Parts: sequence; C-alpha cells; structure tokens
Amino acid sequence: MHIISELSELRATVANWRRAGLKVAFVPTMGNLHAGHFKLVDEARKLADKVIVSIFVNPMQFGPSEDLAKYPRTLQADCDGLTAHQADAVFTPAAALIYPRGLDTQTAVEVPKVGDLHCGASRPGHFRGVATIVTKLFNLVQPDVALFGKKDYQQLAVIRRFTEDLSFPIEIIGVDTERAADGLALSSRNGYLTPELRATAPLIYQQLLWLQQQITSGFADFRALEQQVAATLQQAGFRPDYVHICDRQSLDLADSHNTPLVILLAAYLGNTRLIDNLEV
Ligand code: PAJ
Repeated sequence: MHIISELSELRATVANWRRAGLKVAFVPTMGNLHAGHFKLVDEARKLADKVIVSIFVNPMQFGPSEDLAKYPRTLQADCDGLTAHQADAVFTPAAALIYPRGLDTQTAVEVPKVGDLHCGASRPGHFRGVATIVTKLFNLVQPDVALFGKKDYQQLAVIRRFTEDLSFPIEIIGVDTERAADGLALSSRNGYLTPELRATAPLIYQQLLWLQQQITSGFADFRALEQQVAATLQQAGFRPDYVHICDRQSLDLADSHNTPLVILLAAYLGNTRLIDNLEV
C-alpha cells in the first residue's frame, strides 16, 4: 500500500489512475481504525478499481473543550489493517499542509439547515468543520465515489447535501453501522470508556430497539417516547444530550410514522460522548 503525505504525490497518484481509466473510491477517516472503518474499505473495494483512504484528525471539527489532543492516533496499526483490507493508498497529511494559514480560514462550507440540528446544536461549528475538510479532501482526491458510515447519520446527510449543492461529481454511499456483539456501535471513542462504563454502553442500542418497536406497534406520542428513553438512560448513569425521532430525509423532528423515520441519539457516559441511530 502506498503511503502518501504530500499533496503533489496525492494528485499525481490519482491522476495516474484516472489516465488508466480506473474508477477511484475514497474513504475519509480520522484513523484509529476499527471494523466499522474496514467495512467501508471492503465496500469501496467492491465498487471501484482503486481505493484510497485518508487519515487526518481534523482540528476544525473539534470544539475548544473537546478531545482533539487526546484523540487516539495509531498510524502503524491503521496502515497494517488497511494493507490487510487491500486499500491501494492512504493519505496522511500534516495539519500544516491542509491548513497552511491555520484554522482561521476565510472560506468554509456550511450546511445550515441540516447541520444546525441535533449534534450541530450541541457542537457549534462541528459540521462546518466536517463539511469544509470533506470538501477540501474531495478537491484533492477527486474520487468517483466516496463512502461514509450511517453511524454518523447526520454527518452523512450534511455530506450528501453539500455534494449536491456544490455539484461535486461524486457518488456518496452510506454504509450500515458495524456493532460489537452486545450491540454497541463501534467507535474510536469507545476506547475512552472504563470497563464498567463499557458494560453500561450497550443500553443505548437496546433503547433504540425498544423505541423502534414502540413506533412500529403504533405508539404515536413521539415526544413522550423520547422523554422516556432519556429518563431511562439518565437512571443508568448517562447524561443524555438528545433523543430525537426524525424524518429520515429532512432530519426534522417527526410527529407521524407515515414518513420513513430515523431515531437519532447522543448521550454522555462519563466524559465520553456516544452517538447512535436506528432507521424505523
Ligand atoms: P471517523 O470518525 O474516523 O469515521 C470515518 C468514517 O467511518 C465515517 O464515515 C464514519 O461514519 C464511519 N464509521 C465510524 N464508525 C463506524 C461504524 N461503527 N460502522 C460503520 N461506519 C463507521 O467521521 C469522521 O471520521 C470524520 O468526521 C471525517 C468524515 C473523516 C471528516 O473529518
């Protein structure tokens, strides 16, 4: 596998592939790769001739009091995993290459409607940081197809929206969430949990399944259901951020089960912020 850290090398590598008429799939990540990330790589492998992964812990999407400094960095293990999953190249730029003028960028990509809801309300500027870095990576890599996890459901919606609004000729693919045997969605942040908290964490998925069942069996007061789940999580030691039953397209709060729905959930366990979701 080709390890690329310079922009010129990245452009030359992808240009060579394109000249040879090869289809290029791109999987952006922040590293500390787990089976969820590798599922995206495996899907990419099925869809394209060449698979390129980026590993970049993007400072622009972290709030001032968030975990940028302690975010796990495991480049060697990540590269070993990517080799095993037959990625063709990994792009691991230094922050100074991506943000040569620092984070005080004049130009940014904002997706106000979908990006201000839910996680966007709790993490101001987060989706601005995500949309800006993914736009920059799209411009650098110029892939035919890019893959993202449904684990970050709102992120996927934001990316779909700016890709369409900015006319990127890139097909966006959403990949189902990879879970541990006990249901917890895999996440690099799970590593922050003590064994005791890790044992509590699967309650999130259990509550999502319970909500899904209540909705499909016709229980119509969504706000009451949301409150009940938040109270259950709180009793178990979580600090719920939000539990929202939403329209799957707009991600607005839904009040009828006539539309396809998705339940979005975020909760702190100790200092760790966990998110998960389930389509209904
Ligand atoms: P990161 O958290 O490293 O995730 C990279 C990709 O892996 C995202 O598309 C995410 O949704 C997907 N992913 C994470 N956990 C998953 C799981 N359990 N199952 C399936 N897919 C999973 O998301 C980011 O990085 C960043 O915001 C990024 C898009 C790279 C921009 O900086």
